[in-house]
Amino acid sequence: MEKLQQLYAGKAKSVYATANPDYVVLSFRDDTSAFDGEKVEQLSRKGEVNNKFNAFIMQKLAEAGIPTHFEKLLNPTESLVKHMQMIPVECVVRNVASGSLVRRLGVEDGMNLTPPVFEFFLKNDSLHDPMINEYHIATFGWATEQQVQRMKALTFEVNQVLKQLFSDAGMILVDYKLEFGVFKGEVCLGDEFSPDGCRLWDAETRKKLDKDRFRQGLGGVIEAYEEVATRIGVPL
Ligand code: C5P
Repeated sequence: MEKLQQLYAGKAKSVYATANPDYVVLSFRDDTSAFDGEKVEQLSRKGEVNNKFNAFIMQKLAEAGIPTHFEKLLNPTESLVKHMQMIPVECVVRNVASGSLVRRLGVEDGMNLTPPVFEFFLKNDSLHDPMINEYHIATFGWATEQQVQRMKALTFEVNQVLKQLFSDAGMILVDYKLEFGVFKGEVCLGDEFSPDGCRLWDAETRKKLDKDRFRQGLGGVIEAYEEVATRIGVPL
């Protein structure tokens, strides 16, 4: 489908209109950002790796009955997706303590979390994505109660599917962030699932295979993403 005018440019992806108002083109760039856009670098091949990685994961989730915005891969760096109205809330599930949870609560990095922790954050860079709860979402009208319950249920369903998928490939899904939108009245998974938005550790060595390599200046960022992709069978 032909790409028309740009509708939106985020930190790592851009969105373009198509002739069909129900669909948009999601274009994955090589830009890599951290700390609310304070650290930005171009990492060669990232757009392509994340586009293909996301396509593979979205298809796995769809097979498991999870509604997603993904339609099809268009080319190495672009996918066709449903044109949703995005809900400005980020849903995070944590199976293992790391990142902001450790900083906030002073618990040990690497601690197993049973049951997994669920958190909402407001998607707002200038406010540094503050943590919010269901009351904030209701009061400020960011989503309906029904949508909130659906986002939570779908985020946990994703955990069941992906924890197993990564574990079968010798990795631990530490945590991840999802975003949802509404398409023709239905809450669907949007944005992307890639090593940019989750933490993945090698199950034996606990080597970090995700964007923490970029955040922490560990190097080998794209090499790690490619390793994860290869291990789970993403055709690169
Ligand atoms: O930073 P924090 O520990 O809260 O992140 C939890 C998970 O959500 C991590 O996997 C991180 O990569 C992801 N995340 C994200 N985008 C954000 C905030 C967090 O992808 N804006």
